[in-house]
Amino acid sequence: MSLLSPGRNIVLIGLMGAGKTTVGRLIAQRLGRPFVDTDEVVESDAHRSIAEIFAQDGERAFRRMESAAVRRVAALRGQVLAVGGGAVLDHGNVTQLRSTGDLVLLDADPSTLAARIPDASTRPVLSDAGDTSAALARLREARAAAYSDAAGHAIDTTDRTPEQIADAVLEWARGQHGLLSRDEVDA
Ligand code: S3P
Repeated sequence: MSLLSPGRNIVLIGLMGAGKTTVGRLIAQRLGRPFVDTDEVVESDAHRSIAEIFAQDGERAFRRMESAAVRRVAALRGQVLAVGGGAVLDHGNVTQLRSTGDLVLLDADPSTLAARIPDASTRPVLSDAGDTSAALARLREARAAAYSDAAGHAIDTTDRTPEQIADAVLEWARGQHGLLSRDEVDA
């Protein structure tokens, strides 16, 4: 990362199991940028897991904490960000993220998403829903418009390795004005 003129944030959005965290870490490593995951920020602020926050305080409290985390992480540039799957359903969060970053949607078919979530009990919006793949199919349908409104570009991650997805994100990023610093474009 160039210290003089850091690029804008690369912001990965999409459903649970889309690979935001795994791919985000890879991209950050390749660019030498910090990686921040809003779920981890919330958990570290609350000293509790997301499942515990949902169980003890409810989803609305979680969403307030998530918005606070989004505001904080979006204040800086030059990062790779992964935001929780529900974060961009809130317009205020999208506005914050766009002020310093460009958003890209990682998508996959529901059975692929489900296969990447070995323990649905860590994802409270899925854990009560019975069949994980069916629940993800419903969420994917319900969130499709919000996801495509928030992100200018979508990458299908089905049947692709994290490395291949990172390549696709970086190829997209090179075409986005100001997203990568001069050093990063040349690297
Ligand atoms: C959620 C996704 C989770 C986490 C929370 C709610 C959602 O994040 O924020 O369990 O509503 O889609 P990941 O997408 O990182 O799993």
